Amino acid sequence: MRETIPLQDNWRFTRTDAGLPAALPEDWERVELPHTWNNIDGQGGAETYYRGSCWYARTFRMPRQPLDGGRVYVELPAAGQQAAVYVNGQRAATHEGGYSAFRADITELCAAEGDNLLVVNCSNAYKDGVYPQTADFTFYGGLYRGVNLISVPEAHFDLDYYGGSGLKVTPRPVEGGAVFALESFVNNAEPDYTVLYSVRDPEGREAAAGTRPADSAAAELFVPDALLWSPDTPNLYTVTATLQRRNEAVDEVSVRTGVRSFSVDPGKGFLLNGVPTPLRGVSRHQDRLYKGNALTAEEHREDAEIIKELGANAVRLAHYQHSQDFYDACDELGLVVWAEIPFISVFDPEPAAHQNCLQQLTELIVQNYNHPSICFWGLANEITIGGMNDKIPENLRALNALAKRLDPTRLTTLAHLSNVPRDSVMHAIPDVIAYNHYMGWYGGRVEDNGPWLDEFHAARPDLCLGLSEYGCEGILTYHGPEPRCKDYSEEYQALYHEHMAKVIAERPWLWCSFVWNMFDFGAANRDEGGVRGRNNKGLVTLDRRTKKDAYYIYKAYWNPEPMVHICGKRYAQRAGERTVIKFYTNEPEARLYVNNDLVWWSKAESGQRVFEHAVTLCPGRNWITVRTPHASDSTTLERVEAEPAVYALPDAGERAKFTGNWFEKLEESERTEELTFPEGRWSVRDTFEALCADPAAFAVINKYMKLATNFPLTPGEGNWKQIHDKSPEQLRDRLPEGFLQVVNRKLNKIEKP
Ligand code: GCU
Repeated sequence: MRETIPLQDNWRFTRTDAGLPAALPEDWERVELPHTWNNIDGQGGAETYYRGSCWYARTFRMPRQPLDGGRVYVELPAAGQQAAVYVNGQRAATHEGGYSAFRADITELCAAEGDNLLVVNCSNAYKDGVYPQTADFTFYGGLYRGVNLISVPEAHFDLDYYGGSGLKVTPRPVEGGAVFALESFVNNAEPDYTVLYSVRDPEGREAAAGTRPADSAAAELFVPDALLWSPDTPNLYTVTATLQRRNEAVDEVSVRTGVRSFSVDPGKGFLLNGVPTPLRGVSRHQDRLYKGNALTAEEHREDAEIIKELGANAVRLAHYQHSQDFYDACDELGLVVWAEIPFISVFDPEPAAHQNCLQQLTELIVQNYNHPSICFWGLANEITIGGMNDKIPENLRALNALAKRLDPTRLTTLAHLSNVPRDSVMHAIPDVIAYNHYMGWYGGRVEDNGPWLDEFHAARPDLCLGLSEYGCEGILTYHGPEPRCKDYSEEYQALYHEHMAKVIAERPWLWCSFVWNMFDFGAANRDEGGVRGRNNKGLVTLDRRTKKDAYYIYKAYWNPEPMVHICGKRYAQRAGERTVIKFYTNEPEARLYVNNDLVWWSKAESGQRVFEHAVTLCPGRNWITVRTPHASDSTTLERVEAEPAVYALPDAGERAKFTGNWFEKLEESERTEELTFPEGRWSVRDTFEALCADPAAFAVINKYMKLATNFPLTPGEGNWKQIHDKSPEQLRDRLPEGFLQVVNRKLNKIEKP
């Protein structure tokens, strides 16, 4: 029978490009897997984060099967971002893409007796054609999902096809039960081998079983009265395929699956098992504070539990393939998944880049086919950020066709940049579409979201529309009585989400909505709100310790358990006699007390979740309590002369001027001002290449490109190939109005060296 041996400990590691060692390098650092080398510097712990080549090594004894010796595979569930695997000095495998599993048959490279040397060279250096190329998250390097040896008999379920399990299960509900279509792929079987399939119900009882010859192992089993899978009833069936010969079980694989049907309708939204079930959820990245992406199975599970506790019924696993542990948790807890590949932000027209996307999509689908939680394959995210061209739809069409060929049972989708037009040719490619909107943060007002969605829906009643991202930053230090966009306060984030939660609740036809993001995450290139290296749009902090106020607004909407949450517990010192108490509850009535005196009794209007009431504070400490029929919450606020200076982001004013729709705030004359090109000075007519070569000009162009596009300029990386020989003036169409004028004025002041 097969044996899976985790190789977790006794690794040697060097954060240098040391080259292939001939023997175990005793002087390298000892590490355990999962491991990343960017756990600190990838989250703002250092000026820059290390992106380069690193080496891991350890020894192992060759596992043997009792009779025939069998085959030995090495399995890497992920290696960030490019990897080469060596056994005893010989190359066994290479892999490009940091999020999917791959394996290599290393039988012939192993010595039967004594130690074998396993070496993995991992690199997270930028590489042309390997996705992601540029994106708003840290590209952690390392063996962050462990390494396994798999020992199998000569005859075994396939391990060679894109990291898949060798067993595909497709259940479908039918009258009186469900049909399980089963396919397994067996290698090296003799004619007298058979495959026995067994289906066990959620209680572990066998519900159906049947046998097929190993060389044509496709089968169908009928399971009477099968229980359906849904977020409220995540019933899982276990399917085991056993390769048998005479009275022996030679090899075996087990997967879990669920019976459900789903569809999306432009007017009705998402339907699960025939019931309208708007998908209301969050996005998730796979990292934690100072652990980077090297998470344990328990940490993945805990993340899923926090999402479930919020009351979400869906999760978008951005922007790449996540750990099997996480998809398993979604199956078990009942979270519908949007899974995707890192075809993001930068469109690279080179055929090699397209091949890399096809490969990553194949791996995503083959490796995750059996998870009932997954209903959507995401083909790309904001792929037009560098501008639209004919090649983009062509590549998306090929990706869509591939997804349909590998898995006709699921729907495909795309996450669009806000400015993608209503009549874009891209809308006809996937089954359903969705937009990332940041009105109320990067640009526009939060009030613009509802009308935008309604107008799009009215203009394109043929399209199934979803909200693939929306969110804003919230940092626990910043507070104030008048929250506003770009102040990074916990209060503005809460205000923004109060509005969005309502907009979304009022539009059940939106097939999905995903908060960006459930957790703060590492984004090494960022420097926001006084926090370097992070994106702070999480409802929960990167260390998973603190739920921001915005978390509770969704809990009030989505989790039916009675709750009440008083906001502003960190806004604990308040100036002035009067202050507004805000609380969220899903209960029909609430009583507000100050120092144990009832000051307000509120009754909810239908659907109301947010309540506010101004109260008078006594000098010093005040107990603020809210009681609802089944819950209560309480906090203490101090009345002070002046609120602490740390409540305000030091340069909030300056930031507000240059972020969001900063260009809209320009005077008409500033926007239309004529461009000048003085001799010997920089201007927007110079190429990015030339501008970036002069530190003074680079400082200007980099700052404004980052403001306008959200990405800093990284010469040599990302979309550099497409833009380096162009001038900002030539990219006019893709830049906000007023950009050229503002930047040109600054550049004109700098003399060319
Ligand atoms: C984008 C993008 C995310 C990013 C987010 C943000 O739309 O898809 O990867 O993190 O916006 O700016 O926070």
